[in-house]
This record gives sequence, C-alpha cells and structure tokens, in this order.
Amino acid sequence: MSTDWPALRAAAITAAAAAYAPYSGLRVGAAGQTADGRIVIGCNVENASYGLTLCAECGLVSALHAAGAGPSAGPSAGETAPPPRLAAVCVVAGDGEPLLPCGRCRQLLLEAGGEDLLVQTAGGPVELAILLPAAFTGTDLAERRDQRPAQGSAGPGEPG
Ligand code: THU
Repeated sequence: MSTDWPALRAAAITAAAAAYAPYSGLRVGAAGQTADGRIVIGCNVENASYGLTLCAECGLVSALHAAGAGPSAGPSAGETAPPPRLAAVCVVAGDGEPLLPCGRCRQLLLEAGGEDLLVQTAGGPVELAILLPAAFTGTDLAERRDQRPAQGSAGPGEPG
C-alpha cells in the first residue's frame, strides 16, 4: 500500500494543534499510517513534573495498539493481540514542518514498525534504520537475558 503523505502530514498538523505543551512551548503532532491503511495520531502532553512528559509518538503508539484491539477483535484473557503494523510516520512541530523523533521515540517506533518504517524528514521519507542504526531489539533481549530460575527457587528480593 502506498503512503498518503499529504493526508499523514495534515493529520499530524491537526494533532499538533491539540498538544498540551505549556512548559516547552513546542507543540508536536505525530501521524502514522498502518500497513492496512488506517491513520493513527498522537500529540505531546507535558506535565508540571517535567520528566513525566509524553512525546507525541508515545501517544501515536498507544493509539496504534488501541486501534488493534477493537471490541470484536479483542484477545481472550491472557492473550496479547498483535498490533497493526506501522508503515509510515510523519511528525511535525506546531509550524507544520517535519520534526525528527527523539531517540527514545525512534526506539518505540522501531518496535511498532520495524527498521523499514518510513519516517518523514525535511528532505523526504527515510527508513527508520537510517535514523536508528544498530538498534537494540527484542532479539537481543531473548538471546542475552539470564536463564529463567527453576520453579520454586525464587531469586533475591522475589517472593518465595
Ligand atoms: N517531543 C515530542 O513530542 N517528540 C519528539 O520526538 C521530540 C520531543 C516533545 C516533548 C516535549 O513536550 C517537547 O517536545 C520539548 O521537548
């Protein structure tokens, strides 16, 4: 499916207008197109406790997961529904021009869209792998974590 970049940009601009950014003064809107053509959006939400700020891409990724868990498609208890995959993303500031996602959000977008996710930049769309090379992924986690302790031998600090 091809990306409707003008629609994505317009959705990001609309989202930026809804941002809550009284502390930084930088409104950010993010819009993503899923592999099946849906558009999901997010905006930044700041807080008097600065470190609690939510980036626009965080809202977008949450909306992505929420869109994938509709009433009829919801998983049974204990199951995790696969989210719709992101294919393209446009992030803009309040001036409507593309804004490059911060490092944390590049990592979030990687898990939502993979390294071939297209990200709009001032110079045109680029693959996320260009913006986040040699990324840490779930594969590293699976291959490198400690073996699970045997049942009944709880580790330090865990309830026994
Ligand atoms: N911000 C985003 O929403 N996304 C980014 O990728 C970069 C930064 C927001 C967070 C904060 O509200 C404001 O921009 C200034 O850092």
